Amino acid sequence: MKPDHIALVIAMNSEAAPLIKTLALEKKADLFPAPLPFELYQGEAAGKRISVIVSGLDREHGVNNVGTQSATLMTYLIIAHLHPDLVINAGTAGGIGEKGCQIGDIYLSESPFCYHDRRIPLPRFDQYGIGSYPSIDTTEMAASLGFKTGRISTGDSLDMTDRDLEMIRSNRAIIKEMEAAAVAWVCRMMDIPMFAVKVITDLIDRQTSTEAQFTANLQLAVNNLRRSILQVIDYL
Ligand code: ADE
Repeated sequence: MKPDHIALVIAMNSEAAPLIKTLALEKKADLFPAPLPFELYQGEAAGKRISVIVSGLDREHGVNNVGTQSATLMTYLIIAHLHPDLVINAGTAGGIGEKGCQIGDIYLSESPFCYHDRRIPLPRFDQYGIGSYPSIDTTEMAASLGFKTGRISTGDSLDMTDRDLEMIRSNRAIIKEMEAAAVAWVCRMMDIPMFAVKVITDLIDRQTSTEAQFTANLQLAVNNLRRSILQVIDYL
């Protein structure tokens, strides 16, 4: 595919800031005026229009609106208002070390995106809860750019219960994060192709807590994420 207009959905300012700076994207205040917290940045790269939407700050807690509820709304708004040809969900993620994930690795999504924390033990609702939403095929892009590929499982917690891990394994996912399935659900509904670019900040099968690993590795990870997104935009 040769998209003219790429929209990036990014949860945290720290994940988006290096990219926004490198591409000198301009902040647009008019499309999502207050009280919506979302921030829109636009510009051009490699001859394409680039729109980046970031979740902004929760008005009570002053932290980024991470997780599936704002990912859903951001994705809907950017598609409905800006009509991009392609949506990319970019951000940090946990990975399973025993499946080969390493801190700082870049992963492109493999189909399908699923959830690991939506348990609805009723006929058909069980599968609805887990979900199954498509990614575009990133195999060639990953091979050409030297990135890994893997299935992504989404949930609304940074940490993890034993049941979450069981579900991640049964989803055959190796990456755990907090937005991709929500973005993919909206894209499927709106018929817009999408994929995810995730950088590994923590290994979920290690003793050290996720939050300690996340904090220690965030800077390295966002630098790698910025570099990889630029490569992806050039490739596309
Ligand atoms: N973002 C970075 N690491 C994560 C993890 N382990 N789970 C969910 N989201 C994450």
